[in-house]
Amino acid sequence: MIKIGHIGLGRMGLFHAENISQMNDAELFALCDLDEEKLAKEAKRLNVKKTYTDFDEMIKDDEIDAITITSPSHLHTEQISKALKAGKHVFSEKPLGTTVEQCKLAEKAVEENPDQVFMLGFMRRFDKSYQYAKKAIEAGKIGKVYMVRSYSQDPTAKIEGAIAFGPHSGGEFLDMCVHDIDLMRWFIGSEPKKVWAIGGCYAYPEFADWNDGDNVSALMKFENDAMGFLFAGRTAPHGYNVETEIMGTEGIIRIGSVPQKNLVEILDSTGIRKEISQDFIERFSDSFKDEMKEFISCVKEGRKPEITVYDGTAVSEIAYKCKESFESGELVEL
Ligand SMILES: NC(=O)c1ccc[n+]([C@@H]2O[C@H](COP(=O)([O-])OP(=O)(O)OC[C@H]3O[C@@H](n4cnc5c(N)ncnc54)[C@H](O)[C@@H]3O)[C@@H](O)[C@H]2O)c1
Repeated sequence: MIKIGHIGLGRMGLFHAENISQMNDAELFALCDLDEEKLAKEAKRLNVKKTYTDFDEMIKDDEIDAITITSPSHLHTEQISKALKAGKHVFSEKPLGTTVEQCKLAEKAVEENPDQVFMLGFMRRFDKSYQYAKKAIEAGKIGKVYMVRSYSQDPTAKIEGAIAFGPHSGGEFLDMCVHDIDLMRWFIGSEPKKVWAIGGCYAYPEFADWNDGDNVSALMKFENDAMGFLFAGRTAPHGYNVETEIMGTEGIIRIGSVPQKNLVEILDSTGIRKEISQDFIERFSDSFKDEMKEFISCVKEGRKPEITVYDGTAVSEIAYKCKESFESGELVEL
C-alpha cells in the first residue's frame, strides 16, 4: 500500500481524496487543510488516520510515501519542492506554477531527486476520447495536423466560485487554458512560437481587478507552422463546455463539439434537448480516477509518468505569454 498525504480539501481536492480512499493499492493516510472543521469532518468520513493544518509538519511524517497536492495554484511549486526534498513522491494539480520562475524551481527539485516520481495533473490526457484521438493522429488517420481549436467554458452558474478563486489562480490563461495548451502541444507535437491573445470582461467587471477577462482567446503559430486557437470563458449559460477540434490534411477529429452529459435526448414542448455536464468533475470523473491510478502505478513500479515537470513549465510559460499579450494587446514571441 502506498501511503498518501493529501493537501487541499476544496472543489478539486475533495474529489481526489475520495478517489484515493477507494483505491486498492493506496491508503489515504493523512489530510492537510487550513480549515480545521472540514479537516476533522473529511478525516472521519474517509477514515483517514492523521490530520495536519501545517504542510511542513505533514511532509516530516516518515510513514507517508507520496504527497498529492490540490492546494491553491500559487502554493504548488513551493510544496512540490519541499515534498520532494523530504523524500516523497509527488502528484500536483495543474498549473505547475503561476510564474515561470516558480516552475523553474520545481524543475530543479525534480532534477535533484531523480529517484522519486513527479506527476502533473493534466487529466484530459486520460480521457478516453482524447486518448482515441491521439492514437488516430499517431496512426496517421488525419494526415498532417495543421490546426487545433480548443474551448473550455465554465457555466455562469459557477461564477461566484470563479470570482472568489480568480485573484490567486494566475488568471484565465494559467488557470483554464493550460488544459487546452497542453492538448495543443500533445496533438501538434510542436511548440508555439508566436501568440496573440484578446478578450475582456463582457459580463463580470470584477475580473479586471486582477488584469483578467471573463472570456478570453488566443491565436498561436507553432514552430512547425501549425495553428492553434483557444477560447476560455466563465459565462456559458448551458453548462461545462469542453470541445476540441483537430484538423489534418486527410481528416478532422472533433471531441465534444456538441458537449453532452450522456446519450439521452429529451423531446418536450421546447424541442429536442441534450443535457450537458455542469462541472469538470462530472465531465472528467473517470479521467481524474485514471490519472491517480497512473501516479500510484508509477510509484509502485518505479516508472516515470509521461507528463513531466517540463510539460508543466512549457504550458505555464505559453499561458503566461498569452496573459502578457492579453494585457499589452501585442503579438508576443516565445
Ligand atoms: N484539473 C482540473 O481540471 C482542476 C479543476 C479545478 C481545480 N484544479 C486545481 O486544483 C487546485 C485547487 O483548486 P480548488 O478549486 O480545489 O480550490 P479551493 O479554493 O476550492 O480549495 C483549496 C483548498 O486548499 C486549502 N488551503 C489553502 N491554503 C492552504 C495551506 N497553506 N495549507 C493547507 N491547505 C490550504 C483551502 O482551505 C481549501 O480547502 C488549484 O491549483 C486548481 O488549479 C484543477
